[in-house]
Amino acid sequence: MLEIQDLKVTHGPIEAVHGIALTVAEGACVTLLGPNGAGKTSTLSAITGTARSTGLIRLAGTDISRLPVEARAKRGIAISPEGRRIFSNLTVRENLVMGAAGRRDKSAIGSDIRGWFEQFPILGERRDQPAGTLSGGEQQMLAIARALMSRPRILLLDEPSLGLAPQITARIFDIIGDLKRQGITILLVEQNATAAIELSDYVYVLNNGLISSEGPAERYGDGSALMDQITGVHG
Ligand SMILES: Nc1ncnc2c1ncn2[C@@H]1O[C@H](COP(=O)(O)OP(=O)(O)OP(=O)(O)O)[C@@H](O)[C@H]1O
Ligand SMILES: [Mg+2]
Repeated sequence: MLEIQDLKVTHGPIEAVHGIALTVAEGACVTLLGPNGAGKTSTLSAITGTARSTGLIRLAGTDISRLPVEARAKRGIAISPEGRRIFSNLTVRENLVMGAAGRRDKSAIGSDIRGWFEQFPILGERRDQPAGTLSGGEQQMLAIARALMSRPRILLLDEPSLGLAPQITARIFDIIGDLKRQGITILLVEQNATAAIELSDYVYVLNNGLISSEGPAERYGDGSALMDQITGVHG
């Protein structure tokens, strides 16, 4: 579904990603792990089109690397961004409607929203509340549902567990597992190696803008060795 080759990402004079390759097969959940500053968000920004990059980014067989942000979204790229970035002053329902902004089949938007309220009942209960009043975990659910309102070909998730209590983190990973079982193709960025590996098919480890390790998720066991690398506990 997504194929990246020789991707370099720059922020002005700074090159954050120095030429990486990455593939996400249709229906797979692939995780990109790495410590702070490794270039994970830069990689996702290159895919959505919000950061400058060179190299190949192919979505469902088409090179999208020169397309503007909106055109990529229309072709099926959606992201739940780092920090969630929900629209705090809009209601839960209005946030979901925003997620569907680029869609042509307006008639199905209402039923999609009802579908997400069934899957996330807490969002349904809070549909008319300003999204800023939701808890962190609820805001994360909303950010994911909002992204899925565009009916994307691939869902990019940037550190969905960031800042959440362990119990809420577990719930968010359950949700990601459910989405995968529904056939949604996922590229997950995380620092929580253990939880991410459990639901992933394939893992890439990014360090200083380069892939330092990659392989099928099983190869990384419970992820504890990676966890040490990422948190730097054992260097
Ligand atoms: N807008 C920007 N302008 C300048 N430098 C940036 C910008 N965004 C990121 N960088 C730099 O690029 C490098 C990679 O940052 P990036 O945000 O991609 O890392 P990350 O892996 O997502 O880290 P984190 O886990 O902290 O979110 C860092 O050195 C960072 O300082
Ligand atoms: Mg980041």
